[in-house]
Amino acid sequence: MPTTAVAHPNIALIKYWGKAQGELNVPATPSLSITLDTLCTRTQVQSAARDRIVLDGNETDDAKISACIAALREAHALPPIEVETRNNFPTASGLASSASGFAALVTAIDHEFGLGMDAATRSDYARRASGSAARSIHGGFVRLSGPDWRARQVLAEQAWPLEVVVAITTTSRKEVSSSVGMRRSMDSPFYQGWVSSTRVDYEAGIAVVIERDFERLAELAEHSCLKMHGLMLATRPGLIYWNSATIACLHAIRELRASGTPVFFTVDAGSQVKAICAPGRASEVANTLRALPGVIETLVTGLGAGARIVDDFERQPGLAE
Ligand code: DP6
Repeated sequence: MPTTAVAHPNIALIKYWGKAQGELNVPATPSLSITLDTLCTRTQVQSAARDRIVLDGNETDDAKISACIAALREAHALPPIEVETRNNFPTASGLASSASGFAALVTAIDHEFGLGMDAATRSDYARRASGSAARSIHGGFVRLSGPDWRARQVLAEQAWPLEVVVAITTTSRKEVSSSVGMRRSMDSPFYQGWVSSTRVDYEAGIAVVIERDFERLAELAEHSCLKMHGLMLATRPGLIYWNSATIACLHAIRELRASGTPVFFTVDAGSQVKAICAPGRASEVANTLRALPGVIETLVTGLGAGARIVDDFERQPGLAE
């Protein structure tokens, strides 16, 4: 019987950007994220005559997926595996499909082949494939820090049900991947300041999440985002991920907040804007962002659960389970 796992993308409020020396894809900064619902990756695995990877209906030889399976094989005897994986959100939406993808993949393989891994161990394997994927193992508010660099939940999704509006400002893929951009940024004169101050932001972020203090979280998360983009700009050659619609969204979100709407922004290594809203406030924020020149569409989502096993691979995309 094949196994199917579902996982959701996550968005960092305190960002990871930069890698530690050595192997195993250890981040240089701790991070704090929210896991989304509605948007998901479904991944089915089963033993087969040979390793085979099918992404959104097309067979591929994805090197990162193969490397993830190879890492699991170093510790476990696994037969050849067929992996079929599907996202219900566009790859260029600026929502990392690698985060949900690797969280779902490791969770499905663990279950199908009875590897007996706990969530921390699954997070470790997911992180080796993509740093942010470590966090999609868990739902709600999630932290990722040393010394073991396995993600852990800070607060469950129901405990503070924030909402997220994603403003899509381009449909093309980013030009410089996160991994390449990070390695470049490590030569920036701003890099050491970024790493040391992010540790402080991270501790403060955990405290404000536990207190559910929206105003302070807004200030901290926007600061972490703008500081990361400041570092990106101060990289050689400079990494400019934003377009004019991105900047229009940032101003509009600040204006909304100044006039009393509880909302703040964050932007990853791309031009899409994520507006994080207090419970029940997403539709007014989506209406404002949708009206801005250059905003192609908006997606609205709440906070969701961690990676998990589900019954059915065939269920229609769009439904969380
Ligand atoms: C800007 O997890 O995509 O989204 O570990 O190289 O796969 P790799 O990088 P990735 O980087 C995420 C960067 C970010 C911030 C974040 O999610 O913390």
